[in-house]
Amino acid sequence: MTTTLGIDRTRLLQRLSELSDIGGIEGTTGSSRLAFTDADRRGRDLVVTWMRDLGLEITIDAIGNVIGTRAGTHDLAPVMTGSHIDTVRTGGRYDGNLGVLAGLEVVETLSRAGVVTKHPLAVGSFSNEEGARFAPDMMGSLVYVGGMAVEEAHDTVGIDGVSAGEELQRIGYLGSGPSPGLVPHAFVELHIEQGPVLEEAGVQIGVVEGVQGISWTEVTIAGQSNHAGTTPMRLRHDPGYVAAEIATFVRRLALELGHPQVGTVGKIDLAPNLVNVVAASAIMTVDLRNTDEVVLQEAERRLQQRFDELAEDEGVAITTRSLARFEPVRFDARIAGLIEATAQDLGCSTLRLPSGAGHDAQMLARVCPTAMIFTPSQAGLSHNPAEHTDPDDLEAGANVLLRVLAYLAEGEL
Ligand code: GLV
Ligand code: MN
Ligand code: MN
Repeated sequence: MTTTLGIDRTRLLQRLSELSDIGGIEGTTGSSRLAFTDADRRGRDLVVTWMRDLGLEITIDAIGNVIGTRAGTHDLAPVMTGSHIDTVRTGGRYDGNLGVLAGLEVVETLSRAGVVTKHPLAVGSFSNEEGARFAPDMMGSLVYVGGMAVEEAHDTVGIDGVSAGEELQRIGYLGSGPSPGLVPHAFVELHIEQGPVLEEAGVQIGVVEGVQGISWTEVTIAGQSNHAGTTPMRLRHDPGYVAAEIATFVRRLALELGHPQVGTVGKIDLAPNLVNVVAASAIMTVDLRNTDEVVLQEAERRLQQRFDELAEDEGVAITTRSLARFEPVRFDARIAGLIEATAQDLGCSTLRLPSGAGHDAQMLARVCPTAMIFTPSQAGLSHNPAEHTDPDDLEAGANVLLRVLAYLAEGEL
C-alpha cells in the first residue's frame, strides 16, 4: 500500500520556507541560526509545534535533541530519520532542515493515508550539528549515541565565550529525556549533497556510502606585539605572518596529498587586529578531511611538523587544541542498496558517493544500521545563503525517504 503513496511537495516546500524565515538573511533565501541562539529557539519552537500538530510524542534530552515519535502497531525500536535545524552563520535553507522537515512530511503522508507501520517512526532534530558556535560538530547526535557525556557537552565554550549548557538552559531546551537516547532499529537521513558531484553527473539521487573523516584543530600563535613602523623585520615574532604561512601550507598540503584530501582555514582572529601593530596573537582553525584515515593522519602529522618549524623560525609559541576528530564512517550496505533500488524503482537516476560533510547519520551509525540519501546542490553551493536544490529533486528525495522508511518500519531489511 505504501508503495503508491507520494509526499506533498507544496507542504514540504511551505515548511522549508517558513523555517528559513526564522533568522532569515535579508535579500537571500538563507538563514542564520547558530546553535542555542534565540533564532535556534524560535526554529525549534516551530518544529515542536509541527510535531505536536502531527500527534507525535515529543522528548527533549539534556543536550536539546528533539525527538518526535509516531507509534507503530508493535512496541519495537523506532525506525528513525532526521537531521538538524541549526545553521552556520551564513546558512542556506536546506542543509539539515530538509532532513527534519522531510521526516515530518513522511509522517504526515502516512497519517493522512491511514498507514500505521509495525515499528514506530521517529523524527530527530539533533542539536548543534554545525559546530560553528560550539565545537565539535554533530554534538547532539554524538551525545545521543553516548559518544560524549552531557556534562562535557554543556561545558563547551562557544566562540562568544558562553557555555553550551547555559545557552541551552536560557533558550528553554535543556530537557530530561534519556541520554544516551533510545537505540533505533535503523536510521536514514535525507540531506542535500552540499557539493557538485550529483549535479555534474546529472543524477537525481545520491546513495551515500560513508562519510569522510574530520579533523578540526584550533591553533593559537603567541608572538611579540610591537610597533609596525619601528620594528626591523629581523626582530619580529609575528603571529599574523605565521597564520598566513599556515593558511598557505594547508592549501599546499591538500594539493600534495591529492584528492580526496581537503584542507581549510576558515577562521583567523588577530589581536589586537590593528593596521599599525604587529599582532600579539592569532587564533585560527584548520579543517582537514579525507575518506582515508591513514592519509588523514599523515596530513595531521605534516601540519604539526610545519607548526614546529614555524615556531622555531619566527620565535613564536604555537599551541593546538583538537576541536573535533572523527574517523571516516561506512554506512550499512543493505540500507544503501535499499535506497538505490527504491530510487531506481521511482525512475530516479542514482550514484554512489561518499559524503564530504559531516552528518548526524555518522553518529547514529555507531549504534544502528544507518545510511543517507543525497539530493543535488545547485552549483555545489552550501554553507552559503545561495544554497539551492530544485524542488523536483527535493520531492524525489523525500519520496525515496518515505518508501525506505516505510519498508524498514515493517521490520524488513
Ligand atoms: C558540518 O556539518 C560540517 O561538515 O562541517
Ligand atoms: Mn547538515
Ligand atoms: Mn552544515
